[in-house]
Amino acid sequence: MTAAEDGPTPPRQAPFVVDPYPTLARIRANGPVSILHSDEGLPMWVVARYRDVRAALADPRFGQDARRAQELADRRVAGVTLGGDMVHMLNSDPPDHTRLRRLIHGFFTARRVAAMRPLVQRITTALLDELADRDTVDLVADFAFPLPMLVICELIGFPPEERAAYRSWSTAILTHGDDPAAFGRALRELTEHIAVVLRRRRTDPRDDLLTLLLAARDQGQLTDDEIVGMVFLLLIGGHETTVNLLGTATLALLRHPDQHAWLRRNRAALPAAVDEFLRYESPVSMATLRFTTAPVDVDGVEIPAGELVLVSLGGANRDPDRFPDADRLLLDRGDAGHLAFGHGTHRCLGAFLGKLEGEVALAGLLDHFPALALAGTETDLRWRNTIMLRGLESLPVAPRG
Ligand code: HEM
Repeated sequence: MTAAEDGPTPPRQAPFVVDPYPTLARIRANGPVSILHSDEGLPMWVVARYRDVRAALADPRFGQDARRAQELADRRVAGVTLGGDMVHMLNSDPPDHTRLRRLIHGFFTARRVAAMRPLVQRITTALLDELADRDTVDLVADFAFPLPMLVICELIGFPPEERAAYRSWSTAILTHGDDPAAFGRALRELTEHIAVVLRRRRTDPRDDLLTLLLAARDQGQLTDDEIVGMVFLLLIGGHETTVNLLGTATLALLRHPDQHAWLRRNRAALPAAVDEFLRYESPVSMATLRFTTAPVDVDGVEIPAGELVLVSLGGANRDPDRFPDADRLLLDRGDAGHLAFGHGTHRCLGAFLGKLEGEVALAGLLDHFPALALAGTETDLRWRNTIMLRGLESLPVAPRG
């Protein structure tokens, strides 16, 4: 069963938000690049075929610098906010990008992340134990969200009891087009919060990222604004993505009982299954906005210099020229060539951690709740209202079936 066959569109949700794949298939069929317009009328080029997406992500002629992207947008349509107010590695180009990424790279190596398995396991078990006696739970609010949030708080050195505030700031910032006032407020409050925690950490150093960032600042390796940007990126990038993975992977299992049963019988296949979940529902559906710094030929079509470009990871991961039967979830596909973590210079720094969290969380769900079932109907499902991310707002389930 594909997502497109899964029932009518819930009220007030744009069809693209509920199921982007038919549109992405049309964009791929249309040619190597298409031009779309944002609600404000801003033209953006879209690349959605696997080969072209992979090439674009590795091509230094596609810039990321948020300030330059905003200038390009301003020249086209007055008053458009791209939302890149906070400068961090994901919206910077080398050499700033290289310097910022190098500073914290050591926290995310395979070895360092493997050492975090007991922490991820402990958090997972504690969360699932709490759900055991309940008839219905919201798998997103009660599990998929707190798990990566508690992990990233530990890694950064942030007070986990503030996690509800982090979630609402994060939502307001990511959906900035919906409510610009809420966006501005969230950005201000988060910046102030980061400054307060940093001040506290100065007198109470620990083995966490905040302590490392403070030391780097003292050595002149980054500025105060860059610390705030770094923490902002890790807090948001470190949970929004994994929340989406856990929610959509669970939904995919509930929608595909044959695959669910197969995974129970083949538990050793879980790491590879996580790759298939990432391919099937790319948690970051659209890479962050790029722009051309020079004319670029995409499979015979030229994008001139100075154009804004959307690179569709969700489109690439469902490209039938790369993945046979691309719209089917096949947990034994055995192909980790998806682009869900991006590719090239900005490939996800937290990829090992995201995969570890996916593995431990799904193993925990299979162990704790073998009869897990959807509570409510498909039409009750709410998807996050953004074209950039692919995730559920909530997922009501009955843990004991
Ligand atoms: C399943 C989970 C995750 C997915 C699918 C994911 C996806 C991505 C993607 C697609 C990019 C590149 C975006 C682009 O090129 O525009 C990215 C970058 C990044 N991710 Fe992740 N991510 C995940 C988990 C995490 C976690 C857990 C962390 C941190 C704790 C993290 C930190 C970052 C950072 C810092 C970058 C920027 C890298 C750079 O600019 O060089 N991610 N992620």
